[in-house]
Amino acid sequence: MSFVRTAVVAAALLIAGCQSSETNNASNASESSREAQIAPILDTPEAKDPASYARPLEARVYHVGLDLNVDFDAKRIGGTASLDIDRKPDAKEIVLDDKGLEIASITDGANQPLDYKVGAVDPKLGAPLAVTLRPDTTRLIIKYKSAPDAGALQWLTPEQTAGKKKPYLFSQGQAIENRSWIPTQDSPGIRQSWDATIHVPAGLTAVMSAPKSTEPITQGGESTFSYRMDHSVAPYMIAIGVGDLAFRELGPRTGVWTEPVMLDRAAAELADTEKMVEAAEKLYGPYRWGRYDLLVLPPSFPYGGMENPTLTFLTPTFIAGDKSLVGLVAHELAHSWSGNLVTNANWSDSWLNEGVTSYFENRIMEAIYSPKRAAQEAALSFDEMEKALAEENNGPNTQLHLGSKEGVPDGGSSGIIYDKGAVFLRTIEKIVGRDNWDAYLRSYFDRHAFQPMTSARFLADMRENLLKGDKGLEKKLQLDNWIYKPGLPSNVARPDPAAFASVDQAVRAFVAGGPAPAAFSGWTTAEKMRFINKLPRKMATSRLDALNNALKLNDAGNNEVLFAWLDLAVRNHYDPAVPALERFLTTQGRRKFVQPLIKTLAADAQWGRPIAVRVYKVARGSYHPITQRDLDQLKLGG
Ligand code: BES
Ligand code: ZN
Repeated sequence: MSFVRTAVVAAALLIAGCQSSETNNASNASESSREAQIAPILDTPEAKDPASYARPLEARVYHVGLDLNVDFDAKRIGGTASLDIDRKPDAKEIVLDDKGLEIASITDGANQPLDYKVGAVDPKLGAPLAVTLRPDTTRLIIKYKSAPDAGALQWLTPEQTAGKKKPYLFSQGQAIENRSWIPTQDSPGIRQSWDATIHVPAGLTAVMSAPKSTEPITQGGESTFSYRMDHSVAPYMIAIGVGDLAFRELGPRTGVWTEPVMLDRAAAELADTEKMVEAAEKLYGPYRWGRYDLLVLPPSFPYGGMENPTLTFLTPTFIAGDKSLVGLVAHELAHSWSGNLVTNANWSDSWLNEGVTSYFENRIMEAIYSPKRAAQEAALSFDEMEKALAEENNGPNTQLHLGSKEGVPDGGSSGIIYDKGAVFLRTIEKIVGRDNWDAYLRSYFDRHAFQPMTSARFLADMRENLLKGDKGLEKKLQLDNWIYKPGLPSNVARPDPAAFASVDQAVRAFVAGGPAPAAFSGWTTAEKMRFINKLPRKMATSRLDALNNALKLNDAGNNEVLFAWLDLAVRNHYDPAVPALERFLTTQGRRKFVQPLIKTLAADAQWGRPIAVRVYKVARGSYHPITQRDLDQLKLGG
């Protein structure tokens, strides 16, 4: 970057200029001096983000200041966004991302109006918001409101909450939803620091993905909360939750927020969180975000978890009563390194976020629980990868680095991005040895902390710092095959065949006509899932009866086990599972669970579709806008 800047930010930017051309210096720079800079924009072609209208090399946002009012009646968040910008002196405009924002005015730092224009709307990406710059413009002040149907926001009525008394709001930014409530450049390669002052009706609590900057104040029927993120983060990581929220400490720097009636169960399930942070640090270096808190959301939260910095968002469906699904917590925590510190520059490389995190998650599980549990979870993930490879016929969607068509948000399959990504890193670990690999990965996070990453950059970094010219090692690793070729390279590290030996034996015995396995209730969650998933997809009703009666699968308290069972039941038109199915689909809205089940039902005209129509009529209103958008395509009414 070679921008000429105005006096205020000149010093910081000069450092940023050096930094972006010589990133290896980053490991030498102290944390504070690195943080004082504006995060660099990668200017190589593969780092471009086709999902954003921004042209950051001409003009980019580096700080977002929000002062917003949360209006539950109108279902709108509105107020002002003050954007600090860094620009080429001759830049004529800055382009922001906008999805349905209602803009009242845009002025510069001296309150002089600036011209702006909202371009053509794309149904996925929204529209470019181009603001004309004067030669001296370095700040934009935007007065605006979000639309009532903003894709990032879900507004819940009191009846839709656990406590039934107060309304609730939460946001979900990843991948490209935040442009529906924050007017900024919504691209993961354009890191921004931010602060927010949030006004909510008194009696509600607002939490955000940043440290609290002042104590809340309540006055005249309104409470005001302030948060400030001094690190620069990808804009999808700005998140908010508002509701009747209570907090409980889990450890010195960990805690959980949730509705009061959920607090005991959530805290019990999350009791190992502090230990997880310690284990993660021991593996890959310091946790750099201060506190690690979690927000356990209402059941319509569309994901398992979301790694919002300092405040992971979680579905309540992970609560099983026995910590058997806390791999989810390890996963979101691991994103504090892979994803939040070192971030995919665009969504073609989301394996760098999700694949590296899935590997890291498994290492945390191994450290805290047992090598056996970790090996089983890794073997399940390997199955998911194989399923995805088969579904895609080893086609172009099975590369880790996705082409620009597949690399749009939501374009890749999780069996590739998460599971093949993790298998890739396990393969490297096996070839170079755990100690070498761990030392490298730790240094990778240090070198690239608070910076964007691409596959090309990752490869160059690995060649420089791990392979160091070793030709034999280069050949053994097949790095380019893993990242740029579809299918599975020949050096793949396969999971430990012992991981599920006895479960697979039980599958064979049952398929041969034997009774349901007597040991089932004592099995791990991974073993139960493996058993159900390895059964043939077509089975006689009498055999499903044998399973359901012996194993009480319709009443499974573990949602992953229940989901695996319901998938099998639906494929076999198994009527005795329908009440459990309807309950499952109408009491939670996690996309990974509801979308495949409803899709399978909808595709089956005779038996399934009427169930899908009936369920969607009841459930649609409680699903998140993202989930609705997906399922509306099935034209079920509702
Ligand atoms: N970052 C993802 C969630 C996400 C991905 C949101 C893409 C929007 C677009 C999160 O870390 C995640 O991977 N969640 C998983 C759980 C995990 C244990 C595999 C989920 O939601 O199921
Ligand atoms: Zn993830």
